[in-house]
Amino acid sequence: MLMKRSLLGTAIAALCITAASSVSAQEKVLNLYSARHYQTDEALYSNFTKQTGIKINRIEAGENELLERIKNEGANSPADVFITVDAARLAKADELNLFGRVNSKILDARIPAQLRTDDWYAFSTRARVIVYNKTAINPAEVQTYQDLANPRLKGKVCVRSGSHPYNLSLGASVLANTGEEKTAEWAKGLVANFARSPKGGDTDQIKAVAAGECGVALANSYYVARLMRSDKPEDKKIMDSVVVVWPNQKTTGTHVNISGGGMLKNAPNKEAAVKFLEYLSSDQAQAYFADGNNEWPVVKSVKITNPALEALGPFKAETINVGILAKNQAAVQKIYDRAGWQ
Ligand SMILES: [Fe+2]
Repeated sequence: MLMKRSLLGTAIAALCITAASSVSAQEKVLNLYSARHYQTDEALYSNFTKQTGIKINRIEAGENELLERIKNEGANSPADVFITVDAARLAKADELNLFGRVNSKILDARIPAQLRTDDWYAFSTRARVIVYNKTAINPAEVQTYQDLANPRLKGKVCVRSGSHPYNLSLGASVLANTGEEKTAEWAKGLVANFARSPKGGDTDQIKAVAAGECGVALANSYYVARLMRSDKPEDKKIMDSVVVVWPNQKTTGTHVNISGGGMLKNAPNKEAAVKFLEYLSSDQAQAYFADGNNEWPVVKSVKITNPALEALGPFKAETINVGILAKNQAAVQKIYDRAGWQ
């Protein structure tokens, strides 16, 4: 009986290995765990398959859910690449020690040094801008992130939750530029100026500014660009009522965040993973980020044709290493908690 069982076990094991190797010989696949939810990304993925013959199995979910899943799957995780938006979220994945080291001369040559870490890469950038109501605000009073904490704007500032990665990363930038004490003062001043308790996403803040519920708000640039490119009359009306400011142009530059990703430590298809990451830095993929989702390519030589980004014009961006933005997250969350920015 015992022998029978072990014979059977061996037979099953042999069968499994045969099955596995025949699958890998037949089709090349990439298992992509994505927390990006932009419709325009479809073309980005199908084009990779067209170019390489590698089929993408995509699992889309919220970043926390995906990270939890990768963590639980452990060494057996089928995930090859994790992509998401915001340095804060990539930092979380990194903290969980989920990424594996990629050695790619192509990625190192294409992506500027401040936009990559040892474990993950940025593929596009977005700026956190100030949006104010034309008739309610004196433009001179809203030129910097620090201005938004000035008591003269009491009751006029709208912004989403302080726990949201976009605001944590902004705080991480403020912390790197001004130190802990000034960042804590800034957060307190900002909270004291709130027009309402934080709610909604960035687009909701822009709408509230247009409607006069608040005078000024913070939003990521691609939300502004999306409204600028919209044909809907209600969106046109919103953009007619507001003005966009590039903050901190005279000092450290506007806070810039990223979308990015990396290869996972336990990736079963490492070669395909590196190919995919390299593809994301190609001219064609870079143009998709810009023209599809209104983000800026990290590869500066890439030509883009996006009327909204063009209309927004050039600006001075901060040059902080994305790794520092990631590292400061926890400290900023504490500062925001103490300031009461929920
Ligand atoms: Fe977003």
